[in-house]
Amino acid sequence: MRISQEPGSSPMWTELTLTPEERAMLNGEMGPGARQAMEIVVALGHIYNARRLTPVESVQIAGVSYHNLGQAGLEFLTDWADQGARVRVPTTLNPAGMDLEAWRELGFSENFARHQWAVIEAYRRFGVHTTCTCTPYLVGNRPSGGSSVAWAESSAVSYANSVLGARTNREGGPSALAAAIIGRTAAYGFHLDENRRATLRIDVHCPLRSLDEFGALGYWVGQIARQRVPYFTGLETVTETELKALGAAMAASGAVALYHVAGVTPEADRPDILAPGHDVIVVNSADDLRPAYVALNSDVTEIDLVWFGCPHASLEEIATVVRQLDGRRVRSALWITAARQIREQAAAAGLLAALETCGGRVVSDMCAVVAPMRELGFRTLATPSAKGAYYIPSHTGLAVRYGSPAQCVEAAVSGVWPSPGLE
Ligand code: F3S
Repeated sequence: MRISQEPGSSPMWTELTLTPEERAMLNGEMGPGARQAMEIVVALGHIYNARRLTPVESVQIAGVSYHNLGQAGLEFLTDWADQGARVRVPTTLNPAGMDLEAWRELGFSENFARHQWAVIEAYRRFGVHTTCTCTPYLVGNRPSGGSSVAWAESSAVSYANSVLGARTNREGGPSALAAAIIGRTAAYGFHLDENRRATLRIDVHCPLRSLDEFGALGYWVGQIARQRVPYFTGLETVTETELKALGAAMAASGAVALYHVAGVTPEADRPDILAPGHDVIVVNSADDLRPAYVALNSDVTEIDLVWFGCPHASLEEIATVVRQLDGRRVRSALWITAARQIREQAAAAGLLAALETCGGRVVSDMCAVVAPMRELGFRTLATPSAKGAYYIPSHTGLAVRYGSPAQCVEAAVSGVWPSPGLE
């Protein structure tokens, strides 16, 4: 079927083929909400020269914090939900701007909480699981290899494409919701085999010792790669937590949505995975990553808040922090952001109690980057997350220290950023 975007307008012909059911949705036969969703997905299909739509197994939506959405975003969601639109596939939500249960204890205002709850309620009316996490793959929304999904959060997109071998472009907030409502997305970009080949090879010739070094590598490669698909060699022993940090950093400093790691990720061993003529860069020693530390660090010494869990922490990451604290009380605030289900698992495992005894807390449903952090009284923050360190200054106005998990734990205990060699 050939369709034009608007009858009577100057023709904009495309080869986008729609099934009878998709055509019916576009014609409004399944209600105005579904028609609006189809219009968004079809428009994207035209822009990116898609030839068809593809069913999606799940959707992950970003654009949840009222701090970012504002009143206009809330009204857009409410109006769409009023049209009767409902999601057709399992759909999860990115973090909000506050902990939905402990917001009062943490110092969020009634006004902010009321608006944030209105956003959550609007998504709930669509039938969205209001999970509020950027690691949906740790709490049940874990797509199978080769499946198409429509995810929006950049670190989750990277993880789904690269570590799980699923297929997704980085959706925007409205396009992800539209895909959820019609159960389809336009088949272009990373849904197609030919766009999943690597065009930049990175040979890592040195061991990377801690999570921040993977983040620094990701920050550095992201800046070079931009939208290209990197292929790493020399990372055969990398863990899933390290891949999470690496991918999140590349998605932040560049726009990397897919990468491969030789011997590790599911598509890396495809015989044609490296495109002919690909560029090669080499990391000879961890010192090559120093520029990333310089770029991500301010010179503040007093630390108000130490933040782990960007992307949201796994149970193992919480256990690591508890182990490193070793029963010591913290002087700075210490937050580990994690999905609420992971928090419950931490409680069941005794980790939450151990952390709280030291003065730390597991904070759920939220992300510090999209929260009104200055209104909570924070001015400085330390984190082992390159993505967090990249966005915090511009989004919240806080000064940042970036370093290893061990340095961050020491900063929490002493209240100051440790001098080199003291951590
Ligand atoms: Fe997640 Fe926020 Fe970091 S959405 S990846 S915790 S910046």
